[in-house]
Amino acid sequence: MTMHAWRFDALSSLADLTLHDEPLPVPLRGEVLIRVCAVSLNYRDIAPVLGRYIWPAKPGLIPCSDATGEIVAVGEGVTAFKPGDRVVSCFHARWLGGRPPFGMMLQSYGTGSDGWLVEFKVVSQEAIVSLPDNISVRDGATLPCAATTAWNALSGGTPVRAGQTVLTLGTGGVSMFAVQLAKAVGATVIATTSSAEKAERLKALGADHIVNYNDIPVWGQHITREVTHGTGVDCVVEVGGPATINQSLDAVRWGGEVVLIGFLSSENPGIDYFHLKGCGATIRSVAVGDRPMLEELLRVWTVSGLSPVIDSVFSFAEARAAFQHLQSGSHVGKIVITVND
Ligand SMILES: NC(=O)c1ccc[n+]([C@@H]2O[C@H](COP(=O)([O-])OP(=O)(O)OC[C@H]3O[C@@H](n4cnc5c(N)ncnc54)[C@H](OP(=O)(O)O)[C@@H]3O)[C@@H](O)[C@H]2O)c1
Repeated sequence: MTMHAWRFDALSSLADLTLHDEPLPVPLRGEVLIRVCAVSLNYRDIAPVLGRYIWPAKPGLIPCSDATGEIVAVGEGVTAFKPGDRVVSCFHARWLGGRPPFGMMLQSYGTGSDGWLVEFKVVSQEAIVSLPDNISVRDGATLPCAATTAWNALSGGTPVRAGQTVLTLGTGGVSMFAVQLAKAVGATVIATTSSAEKAERLKALGADHIVNYNDIPVWGQHITREVTHGTGVDCVVEVGGPATINQSLDAVRWGGEVVLIGFLSSENPGIDYFHLKGCGATIRSVAVGDRPMLEELLRVWTVSGLSPVIDSVFSFAEARAAFQHLQSGSHVGKIVITVND
């Protein structure tokens, strides 16, 4: 029996993403065979093709880390799941908790090992968790990377408390989840964005203050002085990277936290040591989160009754168009590809 799989045969452009016919994999001891239902895209899925990924990336692999599916067969010794169970992928297949396993970032789905943009996939029973009944396979597929990262940013260091202030950057996947989750814990949200249309989407999601970074390029000081009346924010969910970090350091309060997540910006003006030291904040770099962080996020998501912001849904056959849409940057929130929905 065969199945279809999308692979980046090379990493020079999105045209390198091609459909292959491949044998159906067989689950061995401790493994499960999953019929993939839905996949969602993250910036890192196109970063290698743009030459913008910060870790080595191998050509020839199936892309995508985020998926939901249904178990169709289990290997010998599998006790956690049975055929028919709905599951969601863990971003890191081997990070079960504690300090990350050595070499983890070199084995990530799509860049170091085959990912989830495929009709059927075999993984270890430890590389997935149960999808709660009240979360659809489309919604669930948006949660492993962006939502877990946002939850890690808000809760994994000094947890954000009700009444504190969170700064989010832009309207991509991580940031939209960060707005929703920060509001769910009772925080005030300040969000930056590039356009008035996107500002409306942020307002509708509950953001309290919006700053257009095209209108106010030095938004860090503006947020501290004008929006927080001299205090600064408690937590910055930093997805912009080298070109936004200086503004984020200006926006954070003494004793706050800047969570280093992304690298969307291409300019790299550098950081002044005294600026970094002088901001008085904790700087914490995160790599999505471990398996317990995903499980916690699923519990929080379930009790909060939230729905992910899904920008668009593409069929499995339209996968390349979905990647092109991600590359355009015109999306707000998540792009989903249905596989066997
Ligand atoms: N370390 C981790 O654990 C982790 C986990 C997940 C993601 N990431 C990284 O985090 C970043 C965001 O990922 P994502 O999937 O949410 O991306 P995404 O959905 O592609 O986000 C795109 C949005 O970000 C905003 N943006 C683009 N360039 C920007 C810039 N120079 N400065 C500020 N905002 C900019 C734009 O929104 P506006 O037009 O509204 O500004 C754009 O629509 C990526 O670099 C990704 O690789 C890291």
